[in-house]
Amino acid sequence: MTATRIDWVREHCQLLRGIAAEFARTRPFAGLTIGTGIHLEAKTVALLLTLRDGGARVISTGNLNSTQPDAVSFLRAEGLTVIGEATKDAQEHDGYLREVLAAEPDLILDNGGDLFARYLEHPYDGLIGGTEETTSGRMRLEPLRAQLRRPILVINDSPIKQFAENEHAVGQSSLESYLRMTNRTTNGEQVTVFGYGACGRGVAASFRGGYARVSVVDVNPVTRLQAHLDGFSTPPRAAAVAQADLIITVTGARDVITAADLPLLRDGVILANAGHFPAEIDAAGLLADPAVARTVEYAGDMLTLELRDGRRVHLLARGHMFNLAGPRPLGNSIESMDLGFALQARCLEAVAARTVDETSCVVPVPGPIDAAVAASFLDRKYPPAG
Ligand SMILES: NC(=O)c1ccc[n+]([C@@H]2O[C@H](COP(=O)([O-])OP(=O)(O)OC[C@H]3O[C@@H](n4cnc5c(N)ncnc54)[C@H](O)[C@@H]3O)[C@@H](O)[C@H]2O)c1
Repeated sequence: MTATRIDWVREHCQLLRGIAAEFARTRPFAGLTIGTGIHLEAKTVALLLTLRDGGARVISTGNLNSTQPDAVSFLRAEGLTVIGEATKDAQEHDGYLREVLAAEPDLILDNGGDLFARYLEHPYDGLIGGTEETTSGRMRLEPLRAQLRRPILVINDSPIKQFAENEHAVGQSSLESYLRMTNRTTNGEQVTVFGYGACGRGVAASFRGGYARVSVVDVNPVTRLQAHLDGFSTPPRAAAVAQADLIITVTGARDVITAADLPLLRDGVILANAGHFPAEIDAAGLLADPAVARTVEYAGDMLTLELRDGRRVHLLARGHMFNLAGPRPLGNSIESMDLGFALQARCLEAVAARTVDETSCVVPVPGPIDAAVAASFLDRKYPPAG
């Protein structure tokens, strides 16, 4: 018998498998439509099928530049509605998101605040609330609380998501993706990580584990001190940029690396972004700069900018999240996503059951859900005696 990679992933999403079996009995989403705008890849397939097993009509689209065709075909074959295809075109993607909202979902599972922000442009009565996956989405939705006035639970702000996915898994997948995409060594290379939040800590630690010399740049001096005490160098920004063989941005902010940095960059430097939005490295600004003589597009989502003075600057995935890009992208580990998606399923269940109300608008996952998911994971590793 042969099976696909999606089957492998579903097999190892053990928390979701348990929840799907329970949901098939309890049907928490019976009669409800869930609209989703989240990366469509193997692990999200497992999540969306879990919601379907709970009785939901699921209407999904992906995020910019991360939709995997095999995930789309799998979901469609399972009878779920998937809007659109993989695209790097923001306007096209905007159309897909609006199509999801046109179905007036009762619950929204958002990633980056794309659906909730557009919902506010054309609100409808039936929206109960939903979830938001990321830091970037929380930052976007916090100022909109007064307009949203619905329970929206932020998965990112669970301690489990912070340490399991952001720290450990993004670090590992960034290193894995760098090696897979470039086939270049990390040993002895100077890596500069912009941002020392949960993700940056993991990225810095993983590249140190790959025998790189790692420096950290963070706008927050307290965080810079933490990086220093963790053993990373924290030179001034200009020096950190000028020394780097590889620069990774993972801040959640815009324009972290721009054309203004071109004069500083070493010949052969590689630029990569692991932050959610493709705005951390201003790819369009770099490409349009008069210092760029020509570009070379390599297979596998790598682009070289040849500068008039002979230096070359390489850009991975044109500034989109490189740990979900390149040939055969795997993203974050199955276990880390299984934990995060178990939180998603339990939070959507709580919103559907109205056990959280509008006072829980853009707030972290409730503590009892964190505790139950953590206990469930550990119980599978160390089954209770008897
Ligand atoms: N690639 C992935 O798989 C993945 C997974 C989870 C989260 N993310 C994304 O990664 C990004 C970072 O997430 P996080 O949880 O680490 O966020 P965080 O808020 O914990 O940390 C961000 C850090 O960046 C710093 N920062 C902000 N602007 C900066 C700038 N211009 N220069 C240097 N430092 C700056 C902040 O001071 C902070 O320490 C977000 O966009 C998030 O959505 C990506």
